[in-house]
Amino acid sequence: MITPEKPYLAKILSVHIDTADTKTFEVAFADKNLQKKFHFGPGQFMMVSVFGFGEMPISISSSPYKTGSMKFTVVNVGNVTNALHKLGKGAKIGIRGPFGKGFPLQRFRKKNIIFVSGGCGLAPLRSAIYAVQEKKELFGKVSVLFGCRAPENVLFDKDMKQWQKEKINVLLTVDSPDDKWKGNVGVVTSLFGKVDFPIENTIVMMCGPSIMMHYGLIELRKKGFKDEQMFVSLERLMQCGVGYCSHCNCGNKYACTDGPVFCAKDVKKLPLKEG
Ligand SMILES: Cc1cc2nc3c(=O)[nH]c(=O)nc-3n(C[C@H](O)[C@H](O)[C@H](O)COP(=O)(O)OP(=O)(O)OC[C@H]3O[C@@H](n4cnc5c(N)ncnc54)[C@H](O)[C@@H]3O)c2cc1C
Ligand code: FES
Repeated sequence: MITPEKPYLAKILSVHIDTADTKTFEVAFADKNLQKKFHFGPGQFMMVSVFGFGEMPISISSSPYKTGSMKFTVVNVGNVTNALHKLGKGAKIGIRGPFGKGFPLQRFRKKNIIFVSGGCGLAPLRSAIYAVQEKKELFGKVSVLFGCRAPENVLFDKDMKQWQKEKINVLLTVDSPDDKWKGNVGVVTSLFGKVDFPIENTIVMMCGPSIMMHYGLIELRKKGFKDEQMFVSLERLMQCGVGYCSHCNCGNKYACTDGPVFCAKDVKKLPLKEG
């Protein structure tokens, strides 16, 4: 049995450089039996430890249907992420989880889906996009809206091409285009007018910087979306990941156990800001 408080030894199987500050690590439990028993839901996270540096929450960015390993897409922002970025194939790290409530995809069957993401917010959404893509007969029309600072910050371009081939409507926007950029320019909310779905049968799943989610929800409400139709993944500073330490509390909820995915109706009064 996997004990939630105990980090288990895991091996880095491969490292992919996504952008100048972001890498995707493919990881598996060192104990093959643990890896075989490991299952997670889209939007769930793991506590990842780099020995000698510390532990941090990281979402699983791979498909929940691929069971031989898991992927973490990590932006290098500080102490532990920087130490992880220095590790290569074969290095050992600690992992425990999966934790939290992810996206309740079984409730979204037959619905149109709009994924709205900004920057590394696409990482937790990617596992949900894969899950929808792999069972696409269960869902209606699917769109992925992604915004980032500049063309060189676009994540998962190979996936995006594959999603487009599979009739997923992928729309990109950047704040600062270069000469070659053919997509939209502006914040991710500027893409909302380009998605043509009936509002009453559509679910929105959103993850990105707090400011993006704050204005994203406001704009979608103006378009007629009800809070019951919108789901956000929140980031909070976390220590234990399992509801013991209170570090991740937001209002009367814990992001680690009640979230990180919340329905917009449940976070109406919560500050969306990180920390
Ligand atoms: C549920 C959850 C899922 C996450 N998934 C991912 C993911 O898939 N990929 C990814 O790159 N990051 C993810 N994060 C954020 C990640 O945990 C932090 O970036 C990481 O803990 C920073 O550790 P550090 O030691 O490198 O940075 P530090 O040296 O501790 O901090 C560097 C800077 O980052 C800020 N910071 C630290 N932790 C957080 C946090 N949790 N939220 C916002 N800002 C923070 C600090 O305030 C500081 O400004 C997730 C966070 C949560 C809560
Ligand atoms: S991280 Fe400890 S209670 Fe949520």
